[in-house]
Amino acid sequence: MPTQTPPKPTLDEVSLNALVGGVLHDLGGAFSVPLVQIGESLGLYKALSEHGPLSSTELAAKTGLHERYLREWLSAQAASKYITFCPATETFKLTPEQAFVFANEASPFYLAPAFAAAAAFQNNTTQVRAAFRTGEGVAWGEQTQCLSCAVARFFRPGYENHLVQSWLPALNGVVAKLTQGGRVADVGCGHGISTMILAKAFPKANVHGFDFHEPSIEEAKHHAAEHNLTNLQFHISEANELKGTYDLITMFDCLHDMGDPVGALKTIRGALNPGGSVMIVEPMAGDSLQDNLNPVGRMYYSASTMVCVPTSLAQSTGAALGAQAGEKRLRRLIVEEAGFGVCLRAAATPFNLILEARV
Ligand SMILES: C[S@@+](CC[C@H](N)C(=O)[O-])C[C@H]1O[C@@H](n2cnc3c(N)ncnc32)[C@H](O)[C@@H]1O
Repeated sequence: MPTQTPPKPTLDEVSLNALVGGVLHDLGGAFSVPLVQIGESLGLYKALSEHGPLSSTELAAKTGLHERYLREWLSAQAASKYITFCPATETFKLTPEQAFVFANEASPFYLAPAFAAAAAFQNNTTQVRAAFRTGEGVAWGEQTQCLSCAVARFFRPGYENHLVQSWLPALNGVVAKLTQGGRVADVGCGHGISTMILAKAFPKANVHGFDFHEPSIEEAKHHAAEHNLTNLQFHISEANELKGTYDLITMFDCLHDMGDPVGALKTIRGALNPGGSVMIVEPMAGDSLQDNLNPVGRMYYSASTMVCVPTSLAQSTGAALGAQAGEKRLRRLIVEEAGFGVCLRAAATPFNLILEARV
């Protein structure tokens, strides 16, 4: 019998061009990962923002760096539209918006550190690829590059701009309580950026940070000592071995990383003083995959594949909730599975969902 060759699929030129264009755009971003890190660590965005417009020679004089490297870096950054080229003067500058994203560390959209997180994910490809075959986890502390450093820097602007200003005031009587004193536990605190913000904002409160990752707690202690905060302590602890009782317990972007989020929440429920609140900050997500097929969902599903799912699978239970669990799933977990009486949405940003759980 003559073999039939399958019909060739016909390519739709418009769809193909759109796809190739999109992928080219993404590749430009991927190729920029080391360049943004170099620009940030050498202070190039700040120099341009403070002194621009500058030619490559003027930037070299300002920074003491080599002009030829700077010229190539400036050209790449201008092509990325991360900085602006002024053709008439052959100089480069940052617009106020570009400075808001790349030079201003206090801005809520200071995104330069996110490129360090991308580099950390890339560096962990070998371990995570092997885990795809075995189904085993890759522990938080086993990831090669300093993942915890990148994460702490990536999340810091969000906490500095929202935590005291809008998230805490949205919780039930928490600000009044902490202003008078009270006890706070920040569980899964990592480098303790959120913990320090809480201790600074409420000097009469007793604030404790907990994390099972020893190097992160060392880093947190080091930062706290630099800030001379006497109402702040850090401890190495599994979430479900939390000791003490508290008026506020916070969980910043860590519930979905835990092997046993329900067990951790049950322990936390038992550690709440009467009338206390738990603030659970999770990545923003809709309730279905379809809802999350957008730029934020894309970033978080990628981070979740490389970090959150492997971290959870490396722990006992290995629930692997994923970074895009969504509000419905989280509320079911908190109320039906962990036994809280109530769980409400307190606030939201494009990147974060803030839930309050009470007994
Ligand atoms: C994405 S990081 C967030 C760190 C910090 N809360 C922040 O927002 O910058 C997740 C943190 O959860 C911690 N973690 C994960 N599972 C844990 C567990 N079972 N007990 C305690 N900490 C845990 C990790 O060590 C890591 O510091």
